Amino acid sequence: MYEWINALPKAELHLHLEGTLEPELLFALAERNGVALPWADVETLRKAYAFNNLQEFLDLYYAGANVLRSEQDFYDLTWAYLQKCKAQGVVHVEPFFDPQTHTDRGIPFEVVINGIQAALRDGEKQLGISHGLILSFLRHLSEEEAFRTLEQAMPFRDAFIAVGLDSSEVGHPPRKFQRVFDKARAEGFRAVAHAGEEGPPEYIWEALDLLKVERIDHGVRAAEDPELMRRIIDEQIPLTVCPLSNIKLCVFGHMREHNILDMLEQGVKVTVNSDDPAYFGGYVAENFQALHDHLGMTEAQARKLAQNSMDARMV
Ligand code: ADE
Ligand code: ZN
Repeated sequence: MYEWINALPKAELHLHLEGTLEPELLFALAERNGVALPWADVETLRKAYAFNNLQEFLDLYYAGANVLRSEQDFYDLTWAYLQKCKAQGVVHVEPFFDPQTHTDRGIPFEVVINGIQAALRDGEKQLGISHGLILSFLRHLSEEEAFRTLEQAMPFRDAFIAVGLDSSEVGHPPRKFQRVFDKARAEGFRAVAHAGEEGPPEYIWEALDLLKVERIDHGVRAAEDPELMRRIIDEQIPLTVCPLSNIKLCVFGHMREHNILDMLEQGVKVTVNSDDPAYFGGYVAENFQALHDHLGMTEAQARKLAQNSMDARMV
């Protein structure tokens, strides 16, 4: 099954580049940049990857990102991810990055974007992996700060296909960012947003109606609202679902309880993604494998999920 999954052409549409920072690279970059770490070694850090909710993960994820300092660091991070994609049959990627995680530490926007872009271009040339980059706003920060980030991005406008919204969901509804999404769309950015991961179905309605997003990132809590389910089926709005992430962050108690295949059978355009693979125990292929092992995913379902990911690409 595993080899067959790798051979299936797939797109990854929900991936945070900062979430691909494997402990080994994290330690290597800390050494390269002279950054002191609170963990003794790789094993100690890995042991800290036990989360009860999204916020516990985010605290560690933002701490880890502190080792990323130079253009070369962002290049190395992105390049390592693209090599994983190559090995697993991922032929197209639309990754997120969180500029505010870096600019708020004094790393210039251009250092981040230049490193990422150089690796994405090399991935296209050397690995044959196409891409579209998504600039994600941190929703625990203010809309004013998101406006500033959008302004910083404008000199690099052509580097992006879309804006997104991530970080702590509950208490930070999509409506908080309606005006900055309006501005981004007026500048030609397309839009996606995390919604319905920990937050209620109402946040998914807001992402669709107020932010005018084309895809919902996660969206698994849509299943609680029959009217919303009808809408996402009728309009074939893609959901970028991340099964291993949902288990690690306790959105579902066990993979056996995950609703992705139920949604698929109801006609929802669901896709399989890895979110933050360095932290959640696997890349895209391991997510497919988990659906096979715990939910009895068939080959036909795997093909449909992979095809959905290709159909839901923005570029
Ligand atoms: N940032 C990185 N991963 C995330 C997730 N799963 N939800 C919200 N913000 C994130
Ligand atoms: Zn995510």
